[in-house]
Amino acid sequence: MSLRSILIHPDPRLKKACDPVPDLDDELRRLADDMLETMYDAPGVGLAAPQVGVNRRLIVLDCVREEEGPPRPLIMFNPEVIAASDERSTHEEGCLSIPEQYAEVERPAEVTVRWMDRGGAEREESFAGLWATCVQHEIDHLNGVLFIDYLTPLKRQLITRKMQKLKRERARG
Ligand code: NI
Repeated sequence: MSLRSILIHPDPRLKKACDPVPDLDDELRRLADDMLETMYDAPGVGLAAPQVGVNRRLIVLDCVREEEGPPRPLIMFNPEVIAASDERSTHEEGCLSIPEQYAEVERPAEVTVRWMDRGGAEREESFAGLWATCVQHEIDHLNGVLFIDYLTPLKRQLITRKMQKLKRERARG
């Protein structure tokens, strides 16, 4: 496994809708494993393929907090929200492509997601709490949507300018 570098907003690759994964192969499984390693290393609770520059419908997540128990890494190919609760909840969100910026986002409190797992089997599960927020945030990435797209234009511009500055500083080294 190896670490992949994470794209920083603004980047056109983060704004594109991703293509479905037709059939699993070793390359896609390796990508998923690399993404999990990259996510844990960051550290983060979720990562989507476009964030490492791959235009495919693939996300990884693990929202188990260290004190809560053993890790629960999930790899989801072609994840789809098939049901969402009317009840909504607000959580503070961040993103590995938008480092150190956080904002509250309102989303459905519970969602049911269908996906294909690492072995190619179809899975379905309902998520609540942090898991619900995270899985919706990651699926948004596959549609070119970032959490800052839910904020006011003013807040979004402010964060985007900070990220442009961060990228200039990193480029200079
Ligand atoms: Ni994100």
